[in-house]
Amino acid sequence: MLTDPYGGLATRGGQPERNLLLPGGREVLVAARYVRQRPTGPVQRVVVTLRGTEARRRNERSHAELIATVAHELRSPLTSVKGFTATLLAKWERFTDDQKRLMLETVDADANRVTRLIAELLDISRIDSGRLEVRRQPVDIAAAVRRHVRAHTTAGHRPDLFLIKVVEPLPDLWADPDKVDQVLGNLLENAVRHGEGTVTIEVTPTIVTVTPQPAGAPVESVGQPRTAVTVSDEGAGIPEESMGRVFTRFWRGSKRGGTGLGLYIVKGIVEAHGGSITVGRSSAGGAEFRFTLPVGAPAYLA
Ligand SMILES: Nc1ncnc2c1ncn2[C@@H]1O[C@H](COP(=O)(O)OP(=O)(O)OP(=O)(O)O)[C@@H](O)[C@H]1O
Ligand SMILES: [Mg+2]
Repeated sequence: MLTDPYGGLATRGGQPERNLLLPGGREVLVAARYVRQRPTGPVQRVVVTLRGTEARRRNERSHAELIATVAHELRSPLTSVKGFTATLLAKWERFTDDQKRLMLETVDADANRVTRLIAELLDISRIDSGRLEVRRQPVDIAAAVRRHVRAHTTAGHRPDLFLIKVVEPLPDLWADPDKVDQVLGNLLENAVRHGEGTVTIEVTPTIVTVTPQPAGAPVESVGQPRTAVTVSDEGAGIPEESMGRVFTRFWRGSKRGGTGLGLYIVKGIVEAHGGSITVGRSSAGGAEFRFTLPVGAPAYLA
């Protein structure tokens, strides 16, 4: 660098990061920080940091990929909306009422898809930037599970498609009810859409034993009461080699998949609550998702 740290302005705190091209074409990022004992005193030390550009490149590439995927996902429903509205406007008189209704239903479904995709993308940006807010309230998770199952059965699924097992007594759970609904909704929808057979939902109390904490750590983190929810089905399950990827965004295992954002959001929500989620194989051979939520605390105790 061509600046003189010892001579220059006494208020200067360092040099911003810049690209340095080394002989041989390798690129490094160089930054410097000037350490002074007093704010405008003499420079005592110069801390120079050198970083490779690979991580940043990778980051830029993954952003570009994300934008390409999002654009692609938005384009297909919008193409359909545009196609049907243009056809209807140009040839309104030539279609029967039934045909027009069918086209409008498709337009309606595609508009819903775009709305949902945008809501999911907003969730993802909140998760990625750590801005996902958790508004804790008492949540009766067993009641929430029953409500979701009822919604599926009123929508036309066989009532015996679902089996609910609740181990009482459950600890009082403080969580964000809307977000817990989102998690349950996604896992049940996946089990129905991607799985087969009976979908079993188990709600059990559990204690997570954290390895002994160093002296002075809060006692409650040692044996933390949690609520565990397991959703399993009897379908083909998730192949062993893909288990590490199910929670990444846009990963989908088959053609039947949606956008592949559901489980990424589920994991983000569970972790924002301080919980964790895992995937495995159920005893019946299908997929088994298990998440635990710390029982949390009312906001006034937190
Ligand atoms: N119960 C299951 N059985 C078998 N495969 C599953 C199951 N749940 C998820 N998967 C696989 O994991 C993939 C990712 O699931 P995820 O919920 O993230 O996305 P999606 O359901 O495809 O789309 P979205 O939820 O965004 O509409 C699915 O495409 C599917 O292949
Ligand atoms: Mg899904």
